[in-house]
Amino acid sequence: MPEAKPETTPQKIIIDTDPGQDDAVALLLALASPQELEVLGIVSVAGNVGLAQNSKNALKIVELSGRDDIRVYAGCDRPIRRTPVTAEHVHGQSGLDGPDLPDPKISLEDVHGVDFIIQTLENSPENEIILCALGPLTNIAMALVRAPHIAPKIKEIVLMGGGCFEGGNITPTAEFNIYVDPEAADIVMHCGAPITIIPLDVTHAALATKDRLQSFLNMGNKTGAAIHQMLTFSERFDLEKYQWRGAPLHDPCVIAYVLAPDMFSGRFINVEIEVSSELTRGMTVADFWGVTDREPNATFMRYIDDDHYYTMLAERLATLP
Ligand code: RIB
Ligand code: CA
Repeated sequence: MPEAKPETTPQKIIIDTDPGQDDAVALLLALASPQELEVLGIVSVAGNVGLAQNSKNALKIVELSGRDDIRVYAGCDRPIRRTPVTAEHVHGQSGLDGPDLPDPKISLEDVHGVDFIIQTLENSPENEIILCALGPLTNIAMALVRAPHIAPKIKEIVLMGGGCFEGGNITPTAEFNIYVDPEAADIVMHCGAPITIIPLDVTHAALATKDRLQSFLNMGNKTGAAIHQMLTFSERFDLEKYQWRGAPLHDPCVIAYVLAPDMFSGRFINVEIEVSSELTRGMTVADFWGVTDREPNATFMRYIDDDHYYTMLAERLATLP
């Protein structure tokens, strides 16, 4: 039985992303939820692969969704200070290996993604726009550095990144999005806007098992077939590494949280970012048990109702072409 759609005004969101197969599923979930989400724009960032390819992938996903009202803006092509680190070993050379999606007919907007974030927040009432971050936090940090006055305009920053009890995935202590641009993450963590973190502790409990992957294929639409091809490509790295019954499906958790926050639970704690040590660069130092006197600055999620998550994905994605 599809979830009843609340009779409320759609939540305004900006999605910052480095597609990536899991980012693609997150974008599709958002674009399949027009009654609950008004996607003001999609901003690409260097991460899983280079900016140009991530931007092209975002355009391909928008076209796959059939949502020709959606605008895509290219953001920063490198981290604030660090040498770029990418993840072709997970996502393939294209960053979206798996399906053979056609080259996009639609084009990027002329406005830089960071300018789009700044201008959109400047022109909006306070407490109205949620920033959904699915990749390194470079664009959001650069927007905050260039225009600190936008921070009070942000309703919430919901980001996939970090880890506590699950450690890291690109190093023993760091998750990829934070590792790529730890300075950006540090700026975001101290910007004063409400922050919700969806870390590996959550996404490692949201495994795309064979049955769940099959449910995407069983939808019988182009979107389901493409997602099945994407995830059966990208899962091979995680299955080999973790030997689990499925690969974590990271980024759609951010959109699922905006749609159904009660699917998650966590604690309001202090989270700091390691930017000095090379050994633990990008570690999210999460004071989950409150053993320091550092001020809490983020809601750090730890649990997800993963059956609800995959039911939502199957229901919503089935409505796309
Ligand atoms: O560590 C997982 C995160 O890194 C996801 O956002 C994935 O897309 C990659 O960007
Ligand atoms: Ca991502």
